[in-house]
Amino acid sequence: MTIPAWQYHEPDHPGADFDALAEFYDQDMQKHRDIQREIAEILDFLDLSADQSILEIGAGTGEFALAAARHCRKVYAVDLSPGMLRYAEKKAALRTISNVEFLPGGFLTYQHQGTPLNAVVTQIALHHLPDFWKQIALMRIFDMLKVGGKFCLRDVVYSFDPKDQEKFFGEFISKASGKGGPEFAARITDHIRKEYSTMDWIMRGMIERAGFEISREKNNLGFFGLYLCTKARR
Ligand SMILES: C[S@@+](CC[C@H](N)C(=O)[O-])C[C@H]1O[C@@H](n2cnc3c(N)ncnc32)[C@H](O)[C@@H]1O
Repeated sequence: MTIPAWQYHEPDHPGADFDALAEFYDQDMQKHRDIQREIAEILDFLDLSADQSILEIGAGTGEFALAAARHCRKVYAVDLSPGMLRYAEKKAALRTISNVEFLPGGFLTYQHQGTPLNAVVTQIALHHLPDFWKQIALMRIFDMLKVGGKFCLRDVVYSFDPKDQEKFFGEFISKASGKGGPEFAARITDHIRKEYSTMDWIMRGMIERAGFEISREKNNLGFFGLYLCTKARR
């Protein structure tokens, strides 16, 4: 694949460098998220069967990919970070799960080699791309799916009125500090300052322009968005 000189270079984004963080990230996310509930919510929508194959992009330490592997034939777990992939691969071995293929790649560079997919999932990763490149990533995901295939996107997506940003972010960070302590609050602050999280109406528009129908959309706390989508027959 020839990458044009103007294409966004995914590894350049400093927030995307998870290589040395895998173990810390894996333990930390279990503290601050209800991972099992998140996984169940997506698996419930995907309704996988034993002959199906799915892709997760930005798979991180693999918790979703490993859970999904018990419900389908094959999971492709793709991530930009070799460190995250190595860590996830070790978890797969410990859990004796052998139908997950761990592959290096990004939203803009991963080339799917197998047959079209039944589902694509991405969680807390698309915000690493600026909006134009999010749109390109969503179009690439659409092309990798079978007609009738499903797409689940979870990410930090803002759903408050931007004119309330001072009040909203101030209160949000203060609550994060109360719940997770000052280090956690500092990470939220960093996310808001450095990452490319976008607004719900922009995200919805980009998903629909990529060709998806949004079957269900949910926003939690004005900060976390979930989009359960289908590549509908036209
Ligand atoms: C916050 S972690 C989320 C991991 C996991 N999906 C979860 O929900 O816990 C973000 C992950 O996205 C990966 N990542 C960052 N930029 C990416 C890109 N452009 N393409 C694919 N993966 C990317 C990082 O290496 C990291 O593993």
